[in-house]
Amino acid sequence: MSKRQAIISPSLLSANFLRLEDDVRLINESEADWLHIDVMDGVFVPNISFGFPILEAIRPLIKKPLDVHLMIVEPMKFVRELATLGVDTMNVHYEVSPHLHRSIGAIKDAGMKAAVTLNPHTPVELLTDVLDELDMVLLMSVNPGFGGQKFIPRTIDKVRRLRQMIDERGLSTLIEVDGGVNAKTGADLVAAGADVLVAGSYVFSHEDPKAAIHSLKELTRL
Ligand code: DX5
Ligand code: ZN
Repeated sequence: MSKRQAIISPSLLSANFLRLEDDVRLINESEADWLHIDVMDGVFVPNISFGFPILEAIRPLIKKPLDVHLMIVEPMKFVRELATLGVDTMNVHYEVSPHLHRSIGAIKDAGMKAAVTLNPHTPVELLTDVLDELDMVLLMSVNPGFGGQKFIPRTIDKVRRLRQMIDERGLSTLIEVDGGVNAKTGADLVAAGADVLVAGSYVFSHEDPKAAIHSLKELTRL
């Protein structure tokens, strides 16, 4: 069986906002596969990051597919705006989605890939009846809202359980993990069956961000 390289999605949340243009160009020139965009509303999570005016301003610079993680209470209000921005994958939280099946359909109808994000306390088994419809599941390995937090080790077990659910059904749904990812936790996650790694502070606090991305890109799984 051939080895699969991890897909790397650096999080712009940890970039230097005084020189966003430089950091976007750095990602463009790196081995990163996607760019992870964290949108917060100060209601679902206890922090506010950035919104559409900033995204629209930097959009023309971005050369990587956009992986947008919405930490907001009413994500479906913004489907059209995200599709217009050319977003590749729209991630909505399970915890704010009373009609998740409908939301997944609406995201796909708008031409984007549909992903559902689970907080650390939300079991993967709750996705049993929508998994077949999903392009990706994003497992939070920290409580969402802030960069630079400590990785929650129990996430490894969630990755293994979700990998088993996906493989048993022969699905191609991707598993993405977000929070506290570095070369060590990244290696454990990929070994457990993760496909996509989000990394914020590990990349942007590194003295050589491109080398940090490379160290994650080298992780492979069977
Ligand atoms: C946290 C965000 C993450 C954050 C990860 O709520 O969803 O994407 O940027 O940051 P690190 O990699 O520093 O944990
Ligand atoms: Zn995120």
